[in-house]
Amino acid sequence: MKFYLINGSNRKKFNTAKLLDSAAEGITDELERRKITAKVEIIDLYTLDYKGCKSCLHCKKIDGKYYGTCPIKDDLLTLLPKLWNSDGIILASPIYFGNVSGQMRCFLERLIFPKFVYGSDTLATPKPTAFIYNMNVTRQMSEEMYTESIYNTIERFIEYTFTKPYSLKVYDTYQFKDYSLYEHKFDEKAKKKQLEEQFPKDLEEAYSIGVQIVRDAVNNRH
Ligand SMILES: Cc1cc2nc3c(=O)[nH]c(=O)nc-3n(C[C@H](O)[C@H](O)[C@H](O)COP(=O)(O)O)c2cc1C
Repeated sequence: MKFYLINGSNRKKFNTAKLLDSAAEGITDELERRKITAKVEIIDLYTLDYKGCKSCLHCKKIDGKYYGTCPIKDDLLTLLPKLWNSDGIILASPIYFGNVSGQMRCFLERLIFPKFVYGSDTLATPKPTAFIYNMNVTRQMSEEMYTESIYNTIERFIEYTFTKPYSLKVYDTYQFKDYSLYEHKFDEKAKKKQLEEQFPKDLEEAYSIGVQIVRDAVNNRH
């Protein structure tokens, strides 16, 4: 079996990365409990060279050489088929300007569009998926400022293609290593409290999602 976790943040030791590490631990522990040997790989999107979909439409051309796949020759050329053939995918991204990061959006276009058939079934093999978002704002600010439709739209396309993703939203995350060095208007004490009291619970939720992804993959529950 193969499980992939996709990091849509450049910061490899910050929130998105930590949440994904925890989800990966959940996957690994559940695999171990079930004595299953599998590959679990974290992919850092910012280390890869690629662009979003170019709308060449080769993936939709009837009887075409690239039907259902993507012909663009960049770092996603060999990675995408691995994900399409995997047993589970967990995506994670920071929220930038009320949406997932640009890098993640470009990646989603390339991951989903080749397998997305207009008005018909998906060309992808169903598999358990999850999306973990993390953001600076509090839950209340998020609900006031952003519409749920941003998450719902992304998740609906993932559902059309693979399966309905488990969804975890992590709020009020710690943005700076040292708040005194940067210009900001946050209450550092409140941020620290959130980091120490809430973030460990968020990590536990990410861990549980990892466990669940393995259970679903093993039980074909998707
Ligand atoms: C370009 C940019 C835009 C951002 N926009 C938002 C935003 O709209 N809402 C928000 O809550 N946080 C926003 N943030 C903050 C990040 O979501 C937050 O710091 C997050 O924890 C970063 O993830 P990371 O720690 O994994 O890198 C933004 C950060 C950057 C760099």
